[in-house]
Amino acid sequence: MIEITVNGAKHQVDVVPEMPLLWVLRDELGITSPKYGCGIAQCGACTVQVDGSAVRSCQARIADVAGKQVTTLEGVGKGALHPVQQAWIEHQVPQCGYCQTGQIIQAIALLELIPEPTDEDINNVMSGNLCRCGTYERIRVAIHAAAAKMGGK
Ligand code: FES
Repeated sequence: MIEITVNGAKHQVDVVPEMPLLWVLRDELGITSPKYGCGIAQCGACTVQVDGSAVRSCQARIADVAGKQVTTLEGVGKGALHPVQQAWIEHQVPQCGYCQTGQIIQAIALLELIPEPTDEDINNVMSGNLCRCGTYERIRVAIHAAAAKMGGK
């Protein structure tokens, strides 16, 4: 058994240590916001937070996250919408939506690191999160709006 904490709740999972965190979240725990995109940590659709850092869950072994705090989109707002989620809605960011969990998780990590990001900061940090619908401009606008809500510029 491996114990992991997801969105504040402890879980015991009976899986092999090599199983990717993404598989555990989706198939063992029924937490489906992280998406399978490329499977090689190149697209960002599976991004979750592990101890506050954005991590590609398709390439994170479950044994390596045991005892750490995993946060998915279901847990970011703690019962209410996170300011980044609010900004995403206000600016109608998603198109098909497949990549958007990863975009939001990465954007939250960005704002925790850089509360007042420039366009260049946003481009640098968000460049590993691909959007096949090309919503990048609305993502930038929403991140600036969320920064303002959260006390940045
Ligand atoms: Fe469709 Fe990003 S909204 S892939």
